[in-house]
This record gives sequence, structure tokens and C-alpha cells, in this order.
Amino acid sequence: MLTFLSTCEIRKTGILQLNKGIPYLTKQDFLEVLPEEGACFEIIHNGKSLAFGYSGRSQKNDVCVIDKPLSGEFLKKKLQQALEKRKKIFPKFPEAYRLIHSEADGVPGIHIEIFNDYAVITNFNHGIEHYQNDLIAALRISLPHLNGMYAKDRTPTPKKPETTVIYGEPAPENLIINENGGRFIVRLNSGLMTGLFLDQRANRAWLKTMCKGKSICNTFSYTASLSIACAMGGARETTSVDISKTYNDWAKENFVLNSLDLKKNHIITNDTFDHFQFCQRKNIRYDMIILDPPTFAKKKTGTFSVNKNYEELIKESIPLLNPHGVLVCSTNYTQWSGQDFLSMLNGMFKSLRKHYTIVHKAHADKDFPILVNYPESNHLKFIAIQIR
Ligand SMILES: C[S@@+](CC[C@H](N)C(=O)[O-])C[C@H]1O[C@@H](n2cnc3c(N)ncnc32)[C@H](O)[C@@H]1O
Repeated sequence: MLTFLSTCEIRKTGILQLNKGIPYLTKQDFLEVLPEEGACFEIIHNGKSLAFGYSGRSQKNDVCVIDKPLSGEFLKKKLQQALEKRKKIFPKFPEAYRLIHSEADGVPGIHIEIFNDYAVITNFNHGIEHYQNDLIAALRISLPHLNGMYAKDRTPTPKKPETTVIYGEPAPENLIINENGGRFIVRLNSGLMTGLFLDQRANRAWLKTMCKGKSICNTFSYTASLSIACAMGGARETTSVDISKTYNDWAKENFVLNSLDLKKNHIITNDTFDHFQFCQRKNIRYDMIILDPPTFAKKKTGTFSVNKNYEELIKESIPLLNPHGVLVCSTNYTQWSGQDFLSMLNGMFKSLRKHYTIVHKAHADKDFPILVNYPESNHLKFIAIQIR
């Protein structure tokens, strides 16, 4: 742990950021050279203390802003506060939840997720890694039942393996998470993704109530957790489409784990756009199509980016909907606010001269708090629409 607390004089640009409540600054926001990665310092202007920060370079920023000096005590307090917050919002505590949602829980630079008896700490800069032992100690105090802890490295220049066990024992290869009557296989020992996106928990619950008797196409389906929710809710059939055979094998295991019939729950390894063309050719239609693409992806031909190609995705899915069909549009593209996403939909439907009604509009579940004034913390947009 680095203990030396120096000061750094901030420029007006940085003060503007701080006044807006944005907890990230760049080196250009300071008049002085920043302390070494991981060092915590006082942010000052004309001798007056404005906040604290630590040097933590990510893709866009160099400093994470915090309200007190970064130390073991600080982390212990933030963990306790985050845990208390979640105890209040969940009448029944989920088996898997996000405990620290970065800046929205006062610790910019990390996410911490709990999966039963295991914690997964995702680092977004190397600075916060200097406090790993403090974090382990704080987690052991807040959650004494933990058997193991992982660090996952999402830093701009990875120095370590993607996944490292930093405390206790590794989790079983297949860790089972129970959620709202469904069972999901989570794998913590490799890769940055665990198999279950916790931010979609409430949206899975909503889908479960919406699907009775319906045919569903879940595109970019990953381990098919959204399809499982639909199937558990009584969908007549589901089709999960993902380009990755590895994730589709995992999805199949999830269906089997939930005793769901694979004859009614199809898993297709294909590019979503190619699947849509196949459906056009074969006259296949669905009552609901779920679109939840990654921000950037490879297609069989070229690349896909949410920013450039989401409209195209919607346009290609509309003809595949049965009358009164529902289109579920979801994205975690952080550069779009909820309003930007709606504006994109409005503009697109206007140009198509079509009208739609919003059936459901949601964001991430409650354990993903939102920092007002920092739209990036409201990463997930989930809108279900019916085209008239
Ligand atoms: C962010 S995950 C989707 C999460 C999923 N909706 C869920 O809630 O669990 C993105 C998935 O898209 C898949 N993918 C990427 N490009 C694709 C493409 N062109 N067609 C189909 N799937 C694709 C990836 O393999 C990955 O499983």
C-alpha cells in the first residue's frame, strides 16, 4: 500500500468536472505532474482542498476522485456502506449480486461481485491493485463466509493473467447460482465474463412474466440466461442465437440444468444477421425478438458496433415479428444515455413511418446504483416495444 499523501493543483477544466460531480479526471486537468500509479493525493486549488484522488490510468482517464484518502479504513467503510445499501434494497438477498459498482459506490476503478461464497474484483486500472490486500482484508470482515476471491484484469495494458485467485480457494468449475426459480452455471476460473450478467436480473424476471405461450428469439444469447427466463415463464419455444459454439455449449448445459426440453428450446450457432436472413427465406416468425448485442462485435462479414449498426439490427428484425410481436432492445453502450437510446428509436421509426408503443422500460437491477450527473454509470438500457 502506498501511504504518502501529496497534493496536486487542479486546473479550471478539472474544477468544472468536479463541480459536475464527475469522478474522473485526466492529467491535463492538473497543473502538476501526477504522482505515481496508485498514489493517493489531495486535489487542491489555490491552497484549498477540493477532494482526494488516486492515480489510476484507464482508457480515458488518469485519476479517480474519492471523498477520503484511499486506505484500508476507507475501503472497509465503503464496503460496509455498500452492503448496508443492498440489505435495504433486497427483501431477500440474491445469491449473486454486485457489491461495489465503481464510482456509484464511491470506489471508482473497481467492480466487486459476489457469487455465493466467492468474490470477483474487477480492476479497471493498475492503481487500485496497490490496495488489493486492504480490499481482501475489508471483504473478509464484511463477508466472513467468503471461501475465495478473484481479481480480474480489465486494465488498458494488462500485466497479469486475466483471472487470478487472490485469496482462499478457487470456486468449483461450475458454480450454480439460483435466481428467481432458475439455475445458472457460473464459471469464475477463466475469462472476464462469468456466464451470468447480474445487471439483467430484474429484466430476466420481467421476461419470465411476459412469455407464456410465446415463441421467442433471443439474439446474442451468450449463455442463454434471458432464454432460460422466458422458458421458465412458459414460452412455447425459444431460439437462442450466438456466434460462439463455446457459449452455446454452456447455454445447453443451462437448459439441461433447468430440466428444460431442448426440442422446444433451440440453440443456434450463427451470426445474428445471417439467422435473420435465414428466417426471412424460411418464413420463420417470432412473438418476441430480444436484441442484446455487445458494444462491438465481429460479424461473418465485417464488424458490428452498437453506435453504427443498432438501427440496422432493429430494421432487420421488424419483418420477423408476428402481428403484435414485441421487440426487446437492450444495450450496455455507456456512451448512450437512456434518452439517447430512445431518441435513436424515435428517429428510426419516424424514418420508417412506423409507430410503436413502449411496453416496458428498465435499466440495470437495484444493486447497480446510478451516479446522478454521470450517465456512464447508468450503463444498461432495456426497452420493450410493440410496433403498431
Ligand atoms: C454481451 S453478450 C450478450 C449477453 C446476453 N444477452 C445475456 O444477457 O446473457 C454478447 C454475446 O454476443 C455474441 N455475439 C457477438 N457477435 C455476434 C454475432 N454477430 N451474432 C451472434 N452473436 C454474437 C457473443 O458471442 C456473446 O455471447
